Amino acid sequence: MGWSLGIWDGHDSGAALLENGHIRFLINEERLSKRKLEVHFPRLSIQACLESQGLRSSDIERVSYSTTDPLKTVSRYFPSTKENYYQIRRKKSPPSHSSTFIKRWKYRVSELPPNWFSRALSQRWMRRELDRMGFERSTLYAVDHHDAHIAAAIFTSGFKSGLAVSLDGLGDGNSGSVCVWRDSKIEVKTRLAAADSFGILYEHVTNLLHYRELEDEGKVMALASFATPIADSENRVLELIDRSGGGIRFRFHGWQLREKLEEILWRYPPEQMAYMVQRALEICVPEWIAHWLKSTGERSLVFTGGVASNVKLNGLIRSIPGLDHFYVFPHMGDGGLALGAALLTAHRQQEFVWQQLDELGWGADLNYASIESTFSDFRVTRLNSPELRVESVTAALAKGEPVFFAQGRMEYGPRALGHRSILARADSTDIKDQLNLGLKKRVWFQPFCPVMLESDANEILEDYRGRNPFMTCAFWVKKIARSSVVGALNVDGSCRPQVLLDDDPSLYASVLRGWKRMSGRGVLINTSLNVHGEPLANTVDDLKRAFEETTIRFMLIGDYWIEKNLARESK
Ligand SMILES: [Fe+2]
Repeated sequence: MGWSLGIWDGHDSGAALLENGHIRFLINEERLSKRKLEVHFPRLSIQACLESQGLRSSDIERVSYSTTDPLKTVSRYFPSTKENYYQIRRKKSPPSHSSTFIKRWKYRVSELPPNWFSRALSQRWMRRELDRMGFERSTLYAVDHHDAHIAAAIFTSGFKSGLAVSLDGLGDGNSGSVCVWRDSKIEVKTRLAAADSFGILYEHVTNLLHYRELEDEGKVMALASFATPIADSENRVLELIDRSGGGIRFRFHGWQLREKLEEILWRYPPEQMAYMVQRALEICVPEWIAHWLKSTGERSLVFTGGVASNVKLNGLIRSIPGLDHFYVFPHMGDGGLALGAALLTAHRQQEFVWQQLDELGWGADLNYASIESTFSDFRVTRLNSPELRVESVTAALAKGEPVFFAQGRMEYGPRALGHRSILARADSTDIKDQLNLGLKKRVWFQPFCPVMLESDANEILEDYRGRNPFMTCAFWVKKIARSSVVGALNVDGSCRPQVLLDDDPSLYASVLRGWKRMSGRGVLINTSLNVHGEPLANTVDDLKRAFEETTIRFMLIGDYWIEKNLARESK
């Protein structure tokens, strides 16, 4: 019993702090280092965890980490390999002549599972790094990559039993895992080999279409909606996957798979290629999960791993017949591994780790005392009542002005969910263009997402049931209601909503209720508050920079209402 840490030191590194198995603080390194999807050891995150509770390193009883396969181990001892890949992947520096050779080698080696030597070396390296930070007294635990993914999903789902599925690129020799759990017992039913990876398949296509792998897969998914549908019998990507007998086998692996995809791409325009890979995913994964639901008799499902960030896929899984409850872990990518590792170790140590995640404000709060001095160049007004705050935000929205909205502790995970968000009218396409061109600089075909009250979700979305508080599932929008979300509508008529309960006590929900009184619908666009290309704004200084670098005129931080042009006009 006591304080424990989880850490993840790969793609989207971060740390998680637990007290007797209960989540106290969660953060990813990118929010502190300002490098999107940071890959280095999460020193800043570990410090932030300790500072959040006034702890010292010596107060931490256990530290858990995940993934000890040979490639991960090599990257620990030679961090420049990680950095080089990061720079090329994010298109910060061009690939060298040897990059293709290295990548071929990387795909081959990354499929290898851990062995006693890689485990021992990883443990030795981790021990040394932690001891340097004063964790000599902490016991160190290594957790399997997919066990960590699965644990984060199971223990935060609020379900007592069910089927747990993880699917990702790869880690510790696997690209997926299927488990059932009942009360405290978790049983692995099967693993999907690293060579048979839906994540790598999607990664290759993302890369071949000149987007950033491990980051822009959502763009490929969005692009797929613009394709002319191709019959499944002619889908060349689908042909690469053998799914006989309830199993999944890829006919080509690693770099060979990429070469096959390159051959296919030669014949098709990008959107058709995007369609084929998305369709392959949408056929194979629900079918495979339905097989496991049937064979285990489970009616509740939790889904995690990087592939679970595909909201269109999740929308289809949700509709599998016989499935009563569906939860997608909101930090499904490797950024969620720190929490998974910490929770699984706490569970193994007999701590009570079962907790339903209702909201994701697990990072640091804002330093409200610094707002007046930080924004001294702007007009700053203190709004003392929630009614006044709601009134100010909705009045700006009514004039067609987007609003920066920053409240409370930073969100955990990839989505802005009302803690560091930009809000705008969803019933206007002008706003969408304004946001896209002047602020977000997203690709033209990538839609914005709405936030809506549950009563509106019932009227706007087809077959809305369950809950979708973390924007993890796509839904079809009823034709009759499309005009009310036209600014957040995908070209195929779907959207990825965040749905709030009508009686949610947050100011965020109050704004939606206020907007509903004004416009008839409790629906707005919600997009992440950040400077283009940077992670979500974390501090008051980050917010100021984002405010200065954009054309947005209004911002609500806590109860401070900040106006831009009015201050300049009054000078
Ligand atoms: Fe993973």
